[in-house]
Amino acid sequence: MKKNDKLMLIDAETREKLIETARQARNWAYAPYSHYAVGAALLTTGGRIYDGVNIENAAFPTGICAERVAIFKAVSEGEREFSTIVVMTDNGGTPCGSCRQVMAEFGLSTQVLVVDTTGKVHMDTTVEGLLPRAFRPEDLL
Ligand code: THU
Repeated sequence: MKKNDKLMLIDAETREKLIETARQARNWAYAPYSHYAVGAALLTTGGRIYDGVNIENAAFPTGICAERVAIFKAVSEGEREFSTIVVMTDNGGTPCGSCRQVMAEFGLSTQVLVVDTTGKVHMDTTVEGLLPRAFRPEDLL
């Protein structure tokens, strides 16, 4: 098992902090077309938190999801290993296929918590749970 495939459990306090971070971030979502605001909070195995929001565009396909913004922010600062990602929407909607694929690039055991704005947890799973049999870096070797 590779280092970034290790399952890391977070405590209740960290979980609350991530949920609050996703909630705050969600206020910055730029979603004038769908009106579907999404906030994400990503915890690295080193304990740093990166947030993300969906950012839409008048040229619709150019927009990006909150999860990928959080992951790309983290990776662009040298992070590669993630413990947990929290995704917050109004209704507990789940990460899209593109986001699942980006998550899978950095480890299948990352915990994924899908929550709604009341804080209710709709899903507590892993990247592997969301994207079984993912195409991964080792498939290119
Ligand atoms: N969206 C996310 O940010 N994350 C998800 O998990 C699902 C969808 C965004 C993309 C778009 O801005 C809006 O939600 C509606 O699809």
